[in-house]
Amino acid sequence: MELMTMLHARKAVREYTGQVTPDQLQQLLHAASAAPVGRGNYDNYRLTVIQKPEILQQLPGIYDAPTVIVVSAREVRTSKYLSAGAIIHNIELAAEDMGLGANYNLYCVASLPPAIIPAGFTPLFAITLGQTTTSFTPRPIPVDRIKANIVK
Ligand SMILES: Cc1cc2nc3c(=O)[nH]c(=O)nc-3n(C[C@H](O)[C@H](O)[C@H](O)COP(=O)(O)O)c2cc1C
Repeated sequence: MELMTMLHARKAVREYTGQVTPDQLQQLLHAASAAPVGRGNYDNYRLTVIQKPEILQQLPGIYDAPTVIVVSAREVRTSKYLSAGAIIHNIELAAEDMGLGANYNLYCVASLPPAIIPAGFTPLFAITLGQTTTSFTPRPIPVDRIKANIVK
């Protein structure tokens, strides 16, 4: 989808009808790696893909998503959270461009079992993913939904 169309068509999808395919997962991980991160230091971040039912069942607020991807970082500070947001947003846009359902998820992060996160890394942000029957068409979004002041 053309970028500006995609930006208006993307939305939080909380109903999933099936698992993402291995090929789709690779494309999502590739999109994550295309995101900007602070100082370009990609080794400060890790992605954990959760598809194990026993672990997904432990996570609150994931809407029965069959896949959750978690972004973790080492030496947590504000820039790490901002980079995690950019990574998750890249995954979301790529997912919905492929017709998958996706949604940002902060709620489940506190409930992640520490053992699944690489040693020395702290989970910061997550995204729920799955097939969906939802269609993506541009939504009317007021230009001033986020108020702006212009300094000139
Ligand atoms: C930082 C952040 C955290 C979020 N955490 C959650 C969450 O834990 N659970 C959830 O259902 N949605 C979560 N969302 C999704 C927002 O509720 C959603 O993006 C917002 O309501 C706007 O709707 P839209 O994405 O359909 O435009 C989060 C979004 C952001 C940016």
